[in-house]
Amino acid sequence: MSKRDFRLVTDVSREELQELFQLTAGMKDRPEDYSRALAGKTMAMINEKQSLRTKVTFEAGIQQLGGFSVYLTNHDINLGKREPVKDVARNLARWVDLIVARVYKQDTIHELADYASVPVINALSDEGHPCQIVSDMFTLWDQVRGRDRLHGFKITYIGDGNNVCNSLILAAGLLGLDLVICTPAGYEPHSRAVDTGRRMAEEIGGSVRFEPEPLKAVKDAQALYTDVWTSMGQEAEQQKRLEAFQGFQINESLLEAADDKAVIMHCLPAHRGEEITDAALESKQSIIFDQAENRLHGQKAIMKFLVDRSK
Ligand code: CP
Ligand code: NVA
Repeated sequence: MSKRDFRLVTDVSREELQELFQLTAGMKDRPEDYSRALAGKTMAMINEKQSLRTKVTFEAGIQQLGGFSVYLTNHDINLGKREPVKDVARNLARWVDLIVARVYKQDTIHELADYASVPVINALSDEGHPCQIVSDMFTLWDQVRGRDRLHGFKITYIGDGNNVCNSLILAAGLLGLDLVICTPAGYEPHSRAVDTGRRMAEEIGGSVRFEPEPLKAVKDAQALYTDVWTSMGQEAEQQKRLEAFQGFQINESLLEAADDKAVIMHCLPAHRGEEITDAALESKQSIIFDQAENRLHGQKAIMKFLVDRSK
């Protein structure tokens, strides 16, 4: 059996990302048309970390497509410690049709994908959160661009150059976004994501630029995106990070420097009062809960897309 994985945003091509947007739109507009799309299929979800949105949208999503889910925490399988990751992959692949995994290390995603004969989906790792970013780009395509292309769309990412930021950079490459990254020194995104995303964006007239001064970085942005300063697993660094990120908050003064039509984005969960103020998160410019809704439609589309291509 040949199969497709979704380990990184760039596991899909430019054309396939547009196809995913169309499929997500179909799932959103006419969910009843897809109620048997994955009938009888089972998805196993491995979670080494906590989750609200990703857990619920994948589990509810496969059920809405006529399938089933098995949820596995560290308490159940203790991934990589009770037995090697490659053995977990080869066991699960004999029983289920899809593996979704939220893990500490990107290498774990690759090992699962290398050894499982069924599609493996990255549901967040240290290096990326591809499902998040695909549904976020769908949100912009759907409600800000009126289902038109995102080529040249200007996004400023402000805060930590983390997993979400890395995936956004790769999406900039596929879509030809004009992406500005604004992080404190020492908290830049992964160089592999920057090199790939920038090269691909430039191929089609987009860009990935760095601007370390927040008030300059937000100028002309059509969307402002932020994420937590301290990601899951980095709790011991919280104090140091709180100090390093001062000035990188989405707040009233930053919004004054930005276009008042710019939408505000966040993958959630938010640490209100750190990377974003309560007022910014709750403002009319915020599309944060639309992003959260679209995780459901997006997860359903990604699961169907991969299963259909893995026959
Ligand atoms: N945005 C996101 O992935 O949320 P969870 O961590 O709650 O799944
Ligand atoms: N960067 C955050 C994203 C959570 C969805 C984390 O890794 O904790």
